[in-house]
Amino acid sequence: MKFVIATGNEGKVREFKRILEPMGFGAVSMKELGLVLDVEETGKTFSENAYLKAEAVCRLTGLPAIADDSGLCVDALNGAPGVYSARYSGQGDDGNNQKLLDEMADVPPEKRTARYVCAICCCFPDGTRLTAQESCEGAIGYELSGEQGFGYDPLFYVGERSFGQYSDEEKDAISHRGKALRLFCETLKKHRISDEWTGEKD
Ligand code: IMP
Repeated sequence: MKFVIATGNEGKVREFKRILEPMGFGAVSMKELGLVLDVEETGKTFSENAYLKAEAVCRLTGLPAIADDSGLCVDALNGAPGVYSARYSGQGDDGNNQKLLDEMADVPPEKRTARYVCAICCCFPDGTRLTAQESCEGAIGYELSGEQGFGYDPLFYVGERSFGQYSDEEKDAISHRGKALRLFCETLKKHRISDEWTGEKD
């Protein structure tokens, strides 16, 4: 089965492909299909926003579409930036990381706990909707570290290293997205959706 990945975020596209493909699921990005669609994320939760994105792309393409809405929830900031993670500073990843560093400047090490959350939603042309949600616990560092990953990864520490210092395989094994996509694949297998999408279940 092939899914359209309902995101324009190239960091997410890379992670979706490298997690889904070894599990036997094909994934094609909106960019590869020549699609440009900016879905307004009006939901109050990760799962609501994931649904909005997957549903819009499924409707547009007539193909199964899988979306993730994800973000960073920082305890010392009462769960911010949360669903606003991508839009936190209004100035992209660099601005977001700088704003987070500024807001956390006076927070002591033991209070810097945070988690990444990832909600997956897959919409099928017959209206079937499958979902999964997972998280990954970590802490916010005092400085950017590492060149890997994307977004807040250089500030998100699991153990002694930031995700910016993790290899792809190391991140996928424990990340919110890796765990949520594996859970989604388990749900999909149980659901027994036909290998060749026909609009009918097996
Ligand atoms: P959205 O799901 O497109 O609304 O945006 C998610 C935002 O959360 C991204 O733009 C990043 O800022 C952040 N984010 C989500 N997952 C990750 C991750 O795995 N690494 C780093 N940042 C992430």
